[in-house]
Amino acid sequence: FYNENTYIKMKASGKEDEFDKKYEEALESVKGYFGKEYPNIIINDVNEEKKIKDISPIDESELAEFQLASKESIERAIDILSSGYKKWFQVPYDARVNIIEKALRMLQERKFEFAALLTYENGKNRYEAMGDVDEAIDFMKYYSMSMIENHGFIKFTGKAYENEESMSFMKPYGLFAVISPFNFFSIGVGMTTGPLITGNAVLLKPSSDIPLSLYLFVRLLIEAGVNKDAIAFVSGTGSLIGDIITENKKVSGVVFTGSRDVGLRIFKNATKYGPKPVITEMGGKDAVIISDKADLKKAVEGCVRSSFGFAGQKCSASSLIYVHEKIYDEFIEKFVERTKSIKVGDPREKSTFMNPVVNKDAYEKYKKMCETYFKEGKILTGARIMDRKGYYVEPTVITDLKPDSYIVRNEIFLPAVAIIKVKSIDDAINDINSMDYGLTGGIFTEDPEEYQHYFESVDVGVVYANRAAGASTGAMVGSQPFVGWKLSGSTGKGTGSFYYLTQFLREQSITIAH
Ligand code: ALA
Repeated sequence: FYNENTYIKMKASGKEDEFDKKYEEALESVKGYFGKEYPNIIINDVNEEKKIKDISPIDESELAEFQLASKESIERAIDILSSGYKKWFQVPYDARVNIIEKALRMLQERKFEFAALLTYENGKNRYEAMGDVDEAIDFMKYYSMSMIENHGFIKFTGKAYENEESMSFMKPYGLFAVISPFNFFSIGVGMTTGPLITGNAVLLKPSSDIPLSLYLFVRLLIEAGVNKDAIAFVSGTGSLIGDIITENKKVSGVVFTGSRDVGLRIFKNATKYGPKPVITEMGGKDAVIISDKADLKKAVEGCVRSSFGFAGQKCSASSLIYVHEKIYDEFIEKFVERTKSIKVGDPREKSTFMNPVVNKDAYEKYKKMCETYFKEGKILTGARIMDRKGYYVEPTVITDLKPDSYIVRNEIFLPAVAIIKVKSIDDAINDINSMDYGLTGGIFTEDPEEYQHYFESVDVGVVYANRAAGASTGAMVGSQPFVGWKLSGSTGKGTGSFYYLTQFLREQSITIAH
């Protein structure tokens, strides 16, 4: 298994110019998708009475129009899929894998197109956008490999008695509803591929911020050979159609990535009539620790990337930095200087590091925070919106906050980071462990004993030491499973992990006596 890593590989082989050229050509060619209306996909194309708009954060332009699924459409889709999965499961597992592999090759061929679309839809710059498409391909490759390596999760389990033969056969539950977030196309792709490749049907409801990329992905799955009654694409705003999907008795499981409040509501809805698998990733309050034994250059770079990459809208983004008192002033000076050098702007431009926030709600939330929660501390830079069309805001650094202030305890999903002075690494770890969340984290220290101690004592699913490329962000499928502990996740199993697919399967123990 090899990660896709398009940009890194092209750069290493002297093809950086070609990367830029292909991406810039795709920025033009994908305009052909704009200005149109896209249907829901429930076996056939379905248009609804009410519509929703796909708006670009770059300039607030309308990219396309999607459907607001009606209750009737959703229920029809659920009826079709909850029986359609049986035919899909009868397709032998290696043939299902072949179909997913065909789809991933199609995605590979169109990777620049999808990256450019993401730039328009959620505002990612070229590197983040291609990284996202690469990760989507990686998920498809990894889950295909996982099915083959585990022989479809079918295992002969031997003889309990001389006259008996037994096996464990992992079978699909039926229909999974997949409710995917705006910030990663790859998360929607991974959450769809997992249940599908294991023989379940999938009802995909994408975030209303990136419906186009996922609509095209579903088209691609069908073109590759996924049964039409095993996959449906249903768009709409979560607050209007989320409950209708998740409360339905015929939905056998739900996969969700998004905010804690929505995740907890889904949990309640989905289990209203009894237990069923609810696989959630519900964000984080991710922290990085800077020891007095840190290489500060690495630490500053890692934290800037982690806090402000994709404008802080990653569940893995560090929004808290604990700094040892001995190097606090030096770190602050360097970190603020580096933050001020960040170029915020149109993500289509090569030099842009930080993009606009994803939509008007996020922009308004940032504006409100400038007037309220950010002011509870000392603002060292940022806390200002930019005077231009689109949802552009400044990266924000805040110190001197009280330990229980809102932005220290809550996920805010914006480009703002709080810095906290600590007397020791253990003080920082204790504070991190007192949070409701436990998703990602990082430490910068050149002392191996110190990072080993951190790994052993921190209650967080994904941890890194000295990652200058992103401190607490950028998990790679396969080598770095992505898993939330505590309120960050419901199952303790990561995406891109050896254990992921088993969550979509229920074991049947089969015995034949002769
Ligand atoms: N998987 C994404 C990361 O690790 C969220 O940054």
